[in-house]
Amino acid sequence: MLIDQRYTRRTLERPQPGACLNCHASLPEITTKLGNGDQAAGWAAMNKMPFKEATTLATHPVGCIDCHDPKSMALRVTRPAFIAGIAEYKATQGIKNYDVNKQATVQEMRSFVCAQCHVEYYFKGQEKTLTFPWEKGLTVDDALAYYDKVGWTDFTHKLTGARVIKAQHPDFETYSQGVHAKAGVTCADCHMSYKREGAMKITDHQVRSPMTSDVTINQSCLTCHHTTEADMRERVTTIHDRYEHAKNVSFDALTALITDIQKATTSGTPADRIAKAQAYQRKGQFFMDYVVSENSRGFHAPQYTLRVLNDVTDASRLGQLALLGIEPTTTTKPALQPPATTS
Ligand code: HEC
Ligand code: HEC
Ligand code: HEC
Ligand code: HEC
Ligand code: HEC
Repeated sequence: MLIDQRYTRRTLERPQPGACLNCHASLPEITTKLGNGDQAAGWAAMNKMPFKEATTLATHPVGCIDCHDPKSMALRVTRPAFIAGIAEYKATQGIKNYDVNKQATVQEMRSFVCAQCHVEYYFKGQEKTLTFPWEKGLTVDDALAYYDKVGWTDFTHKLTGARVIKAQHPDFETYSQGVHAKAGVTCADCHMSYKREGAMKITDHQVRSPMTSDVTINQSCLTCHHTTEADMRERVTTIHDRYEHAKNVSFDALTALITDIQKATTSGTPADRIAKAQAYQRKGQFFMDYVVSENSRGFHAPQYTLRVLNDVTDASRLGQLALLGIEPTTTTKPALQPPATTS
């Protein structure tokens, strides 16, 4: 993770802030060094310094102390953005001043250690503070509502002028909408299952896909699902196939909207219609990217994922109608509204 980040064109060809290091390096040593022992000051300094300088302070990718208390070996979270984000999310559930390292159950911790990094994020303000958009909740709708509220845009689309948001790996948020999360199954249950070493059962620290082999499927899935490895593989493949199908349908719809907005900008279409269509593109493109940058290809929450893709297709359709000046009537309540345009 450390090396991939150093050699990606994202850092070689563009200036990036030190905030990139949050999820690609072992953090405690860097923040201790930079803050002279004051973790919060060290974190603030790291976030806003140039990436090229900050990465020279990193000597290791994610390490034991990023997930474990070095004295007790208990699970802990070390990432300030997660500590703040999960407290904001818990507040939406009526839990005030949530302190994750004191209040989370062991079971929750088996997902929270991963959710320090496997989440959607952005860098806030001049300080480049790593921030998770969880103030309103953990769904894609909540994230978009948050970004609309704060007026966040990653880039302006070259062909259409729409102000779009780039999503990245919302694995934890998506998992949280699925049946496994509801049933209390954690990231570690599937991605770090127990394995036997002699007489001992230990947690497999080679974090990877549970579908890697029959052995990993057996260790990760068959503890709860009393069936065969082949059956489990088939169920996952079916989910992936349906996801691919829905994804392609939505992509085509979104591409058609983008093409139509591009044409409209040179054909005398009224500006208010274009603005509405751009707002639909902003929504459709964020939802699309959110689903595609999520890493399980539908598995973590199959029905939810298809629902989000369905919204992409719908936003694309509504955007095309907006260009024609048509406001479709709707029989659903509440009526579908165009998403807010940010200025
Ligand atoms: C909130 C945590 C987080 C932050 C901040 C973060 N990343 Fe990542 N990054 C991840 C995770 C998790 C993965 C693996 C999952 C994936 O590839 O979707 C990843 C994967 C990557 C990869 C390899 C996968 C690929 O092909 O893109 C690169 C390169 C990368 N990140 C670069 C960056 C850069 C550059 C920044 C700063 C702009 C950054 N990351 C900031 C969490 C983060
Ligand atoms: C990404 C987070 C993460 C990292 C990094 C990590 N661990 Fe763990 N570790 C876990 C989880 C999750 C468990 C399961 C804990 C539980 O359920 O109580 C665990 C359990 C353990 C246990 C308890 C025995 C067992 O096998 O269940 C030991 C010992 C341990 N880890 C050592 C290490 C060491 C040493 C390193 C560094 C080389 C390390 N861990 C890195 C997440 C992590
Ligand atoms: C410090 C941030 C961080 C933490 C904590 C973390 N990950 Fe990751 N994870 C990453 C990054 C970054 C990558 C991409 C590495 C690359 O390809 O460059 C990754 C890759 C992965 C992969 C793909 C591995 C492969 O075979 O390519 C899986 C699966 C994964 N993580 C699951 C987890 C789970 C489950 C946990 C919790 C037990 C966890 N991660 C904790 C940052 C993190
Ligand atoms: C019920 C089991 C289960 C749970 C719980 C679960 N995952 Fe997964 N995850 C999977 C499966 C199955 C896949 C698809 C793997 C494949 O097709 O190879 C996957 C894929 C992934 C990938 C992409 C792996 C790769 O090789 O490309 C990442 C990263 C990941 N999960 C992270 C997480 C994180 C983080 C959590 C917790 C927030 C989590 N998962 C919870 C089963 C699970
Ligand atoms: C700790 C127990 C546990 C583990 C481990 C587990 N599951 Fe599940 N799984 C469940 C439960 C509980 C349900 C929900 C059953 C229900 O409500 O009918 C479920 C549901 C499912 C479903 C139906 C999904 C849906 O959205 O309807 C699939 C597919 C599935 N699991 C596959 C897997 C795979 C693949 C693995 C291993 C990577 C796995 N499970 C690991 C407990 C588990």
